[in-house]
Amino acid sequence: MDTVIYNISKILHIEDQNRPYKRGLDLGHFPETEQAWLALKNDKIESWGQGEAPSANETINAQGGMVLPTWVDSHTHLVYAGTREDEFAKRLSGMTYAEIAAQGGGILNSAKKLRAASEEELYESAAARLYELIHLGTGAIEIKSGYGLTPESELKMLRVARKLGEDFPLPVKTTFLGAHAFPENFSNDHAGYLHQIINEMMPEVASQNLADYVDVFCEEGYFSVDDMVQIIEAAQKHKLKTKLHLNQFNTLGSIKKACSADALSVDHLEVMTAEDIKILGQSNTIATLLPGCSLFLEIPYAPAQKLIAENAIIALATDFNPGSAPSGNMNLMVSLASIKMKMTPQQAISAATLNGAAAIELSSELGSIEKGKKANLILTKPLQSASFLPYNFGHHLIKNVFLNGIKQSMPC
Ligand code: NIG
Ligand code: FE
Repeated sequence: MDTVIYNISKILHIEDQNRPYKRGLDLGHFPETEQAWLALKNDKIESWGQGEAPSANETINAQGGMVLPTWVDSHTHLVYAGTREDEFAKRLSGMTYAEIAAQGGGILNSAKKLRAASEEELYESAAARLYELIHLGTGAIEIKSGYGLTPESELKMLRVARKLGEDFPLPVKTTFLGAHAFPENFSNDHAGYLHQIINEMMPEVASQNLADYVDVFCEEGYFSVDDMVQIIEAAQKHKLKTKLHLNQFNTLGSIKKACSADALSVDHLEVMTAEDIKILGQSNTIATLLPGCSLFLEIPYAPAQKLIAENAIIALATDFNPGSAPSGNMNLMVSLASIKMKMTPQQAISAATLNGAAAIELSSELGSIEKGKKANLILTKPLQSASFLPYNFGHHLIKNVFLNGIKQSMPC
């Protein structure tokens, strides 16, 4: 054996039947092994047990910490230039996100900053963020474009995201979000920008293999349901699946269209009708909930328990971005999901691991502690129960992070 971790208080397996995701009430149940050891071989999980641990090249004393799979953050805007704390301060004194956007703030503000940044600068700032996220326990991530809004700048963002995937020891999936906002030069020509996305940007993104998925911000003042349908159809021609920003502020009927077009995930879902919830419960499209955005923008939290009651597949992600969710801390999302959305600790942890992996099509290799899965693991400080992870909110509960079976050096 290459590595054995022993003296583990509990292994949180998340899943033991090799299912790609857990839906409805199944989300809240996961197997645990108490007083355990865990053996890793090459970059994979090999075996676990109780009692005497097998011998190994490297042995690690967990000192009563728990072991669980690393978080999978399936929705981020990690590549961006500059920050927007000035907009945050304006919101604190009463302006809304929509009012700030109408004055040229919001996504267009980030687009202006991003276009001015070099590819190297973008890479350096995103790499520093990704390094920090790994130490917060993230072991796979999705990164969107969407702050370029020109062919040149959208491609620049996606190249940076792809390079992060090449240089860092964790899987990075990338998503083309040209349809994030209408840029200034197309503010009176929405059809023209849609044409550019579909006929210019997307073919280039696809031919250079820069994106795994396509996204659309379908919202009043942004892209209509009809725009979204056109973009989904164009993506399908390039064999690209969709992950979509839906129902953040308004419910427009987009969920039904997205599910019937087999979207991989629909994300946000802060404002939902009973019909939207029912449709998701009957679909294999994953409902990705982003509680950090609800906290930061003071908008409603997605109706997690209603979705679970209707048998939906729920994932949790950060939405890490400079405008609506400036935190990439997945453990904090697990806390918010429990405290504000009333998800049980087991539901929240499963949604942030296995179901997050499913939302970026990585659950055959990540998201649970099962034989043969990649050894991307969190070893916590000495802790006794899964409930402690959401309970001790805002604290750094991680002792070590392993990626591909290799212990990452912790900065502090
Ligand atoms: O997911 N909702 C749209 N896009 C981002 C926010 C982008 C921004 O404000 O910069 C989100 O919340
Ligand atoms: Fe987002």
